[in-house]
Amino acid sequence: MSSQSQPSLLHKYKGILFSAMSSEELLDSLDSFDAREDDIFLVSYPKSGTHWVAEVIENIPNAGITLTSPIEWGDVSKFKELKMVPKRRVIPTHLSYEMIPVTVKQKQCKIVYVVRNPKDTAVSLFHYYKDNPNLPSTETWAVFLELFLKGDVVYGSWFDHVLSWEKHKNDKNVLFLFYEEMKNDFAKSLKKITAFLGISVNDSEMSQIARNTSFSEMKSNAVKENSDPNHTICALTSNRNLVFRKGVVGDWINYFTPKQKRVFDEVFTEKMRHSDVGRCLKEYENVDGK
Ligand code: A3P
Repeated sequence: MSSQSQPSLLHKYKGILFSAMSSEELLDSLDSFDAREDDIFLVSYPKSGTHWVAEVIENIPNAGITLTSPIEWGDVSKFKELKMVPKRRVIPTHLSYEMIPVTVKQKQCKIVYVVRNPKDTAVSLFHYYKDNPNLPSTETWAVFLELFLKGDVVYGSWFDHVLSWEKHKNDKNVLFLFYEEMKNDFAKSLKKITAFLGISVNDSEMSQIARNTSFSEMKSNAVKENSDPNHTICALTSNRNLVFRKGVVGDWINYFTPKQKRVFDEVFTEKMRHSDVGRCLKEYENVDGK
């Protein structure tokens, strides 16, 4: 079934598709959210590695943080709930820069933005559409890929999302993390995260974090745990079993036909022509691929 025939799962807000779990009232009231100066926002386009980075931050010893559910997940009672969190809040979100609450910008809260090469992101989102009952089902990869390229998927265009955040990549309160770099050199990415958050971590703690947050460890923990709605990281599900699929770089090669790759690359080249992030992602796209 197409997204058009399952209108109740997604709704359009200011031209962008959102899950029914993000109420229009909540989206309308984002600017009334009262950010704290020490809030940390964990931002990504869906399927970019959000759960992984959240787990890494949660595993930093003595970080003194509480990971909350996504800011856009729920109804208007959300902000009251967030107000009650006594510790430093780590707040996940898939919102574009434009939609981030104004107080987050005014107070220059720390923001970690996770980005992943869009071909792998598209494949991962395709599986999410197939497996996640909160998303419309999708007929075929070919149909889904067209929707993805048009931005007619939940949270809109990958290109617009990344470009909206790239404008702030060099702001001192923003850290960009590349999924592929985390896979290639986890220690380097971890050091970036801890330095950015101002928390010191010794070598043995670093190794422990790496072990606890490996794909296999996280996947097997997800199977053991029951889904906990209070531990929701992606506003599209609280069922962690839907999240850990393959966890590799370059899986796109198993899905894209040569023609689909050509069309995708044309769109990418056009949309990302002025983007440094685009240049990095192009290099990363084949890290594990052939
Ligand atoms: P795949 O579907 O390609 O496997 P998000 O957390 O933003 O929803 O992203 C989910 C993607 O990140 C999935 O990609 C998932 O497998 C991958 N992922 C989650 N945890 C990971 C980990 N510890 N290491 C590597 N990839 C991970």
